[in-house]
Amino acid sequence: MKDNTAEISEIKALLGDKPRKAYIRSFGCQLNVSDGEKIKGLLKKMGYGFTEDEHEADLIILNTCAVRESAEDRVFGIVGSMKKLKELKPSLIIGIAGCMTAQSHIAEKIKKSYPQVDLVLGTSAISALPRLLLEALRGAKFSADITEYDDFSEAAEQVRESSFKASVPIMFGCNNFCTYCIVPYVRGRERSRRPEDIIGEVRELVSQGYKEIMLLGQNVNSYGNDLGGECSFPQLLRELNKIEGDFWIRFMSSHPKDASKELIDAIFDCEKVAKHLHLPVQSGSSAVLDRMNRRYTMEKYLGIVDEIRRRDDDFSLTTDIIVGFPNETDEEFRATLDVIKKVRYDNIYSFIYSKRSGTKAAEMPDSISDEEKGHRMRELLEVQREVSTEHYKRFIGRTMRVLVDGVSKKKDGWLTGKSSEFIIVEFEGDSSLIGQFADIEITDAMNWAVTGHIKKG
Ligand code: SAH
Ligand code: SF4
Ligand code: F3S
Repeated sequence: MKDNTAEISEIKALLGDKPRKAYIRSFGCQLNVSDGEKIKGLLKKMGYGFTEDEHEADLIILNTCAVRESAEDRVFGIVGSMKKLKELKPSLIIGIAGCMTAQSHIAEKIKKSYPQVDLVLGTSAISALPRLLLEALRGAKFSADITEYDDFSEAAEQVRESSFKASVPIMFGCNNFCTYCIVPYVRGRERSRRPEDIIGEVRELVSQGYKEIMLLGQNVNSYGNDLGGECSFPQLLRELNKIEGDFWIRFMSSHPKDASKELIDAIFDCEKVAKHLHLPVQSGSSAVLDRMNRRYTMEKYLGIVDEIRRRDDDFSLTTDIIVGFPNETDEEFRATLDVIKKVRYDNIYSFIYSKRSGTKAAEMPDSISDEEKGHRMRELLEVQREVSTEHYKRFIGRTMRVLVDGVSKKKDGWLTGKSSEFIIVEFEGDSSLIGQFADIEITDAMNWAVTGHIKKG
């Protein structure tokens, strides 16, 4: 890890007693949010406080995502609008971090077209933030560091977004090179954290009262492949399950090509592991999966689903789907609709294919119009709504254990939480329950949530 203690002290001395505020916004996946928490941890060390209002900020860091064009456009829109903020407050420092910075054409574009940006911080260069910030505070017009120093994974202080739910990255990078995906290019190859470091971090979080631990990796099933067989992901789950305390273990994402019997055994053997598996299918057509380089067939995928459902027919499955992959035929799209009905997912995260320059799929011919892709997306969402509503009915009359997240946005005096199955549960209750487990008797099911009341006695 890059030693930055000298720069941290210099910044502290430079800022003195004057309180400084930072506005940090993360745009991407949970790993990106976790990086944001580490950036905040570093800033706290340097004496910064935090604000949710960019107008109040002395420092703004946009922690970006490159997975789809829409995510990048949003960031460019926001950076553009920040020109005004900078004119109003010339001392304002604006930084761009996250996955967008790892693409050279984007880094060039930022430097050339957005002079309001003072610093660019690569995904593996978080520890360089104090140096870049020091340069900016001393008046440098632009400084950037996208070197791959480290992942800043150990000994990193974090300012966590929640006091009861914690994300714990267990590995970084991805080796899979799905043909549509930019992640392997912006996050590099797989690197697993040491099991004892992960176990130590989780133990500490549980002792601080955290109730949900979300283990993160682009493909958690290949955790440990680079540790010489010392610890696999199912073994890690079993070790974490031994930690004493009342908490849930979740994980994301699990690549179907590596979802083994050992994984399924561990999920069912470990009582702290939630009754939910996010198993991204991407497409219901084996031909499309082949073009995507997913390295499993629908037969293999459905075999995993059958094995899970054989052990527990109610087990909750969620998935990711890409609509409109290059030259996806109508028949191939219909195969995806069939899979949704067959698997009965509790939730689906669906995306219209977005061309990412530098990936293999970006070179593939595509004759499907945007209009057709939009049409398919609407049809998919319709099918999913029907499936969820029908499937959620299975919970009516049952009691679900729920980790209470916050107040409901839909109804005054109501709270919202998530069950072990990762289903949204809404009910009337006092806000003192936020961050606690509650038992809820389910009385109704909608297509996005179930509702009920707190179990008496
Ligand atoms: N590593 C995870 C996925 C991380 S990206 C996994 O393999 O499951 C999250 C989701 O974004 C992917 O599952 C995919 O559905 C979607 N996605 C990735 N690249 C995309 C692209 N170019 N266009 C549209 N969706 C994409
Ligand atoms: Fe992207 Fe595939 Fe890696 Fe997931 S497994 S991050 S979809 S390349
Ligand atoms: Fe995550 Fe987006 Fe990067 S999905 S890994 S923040 S490209």
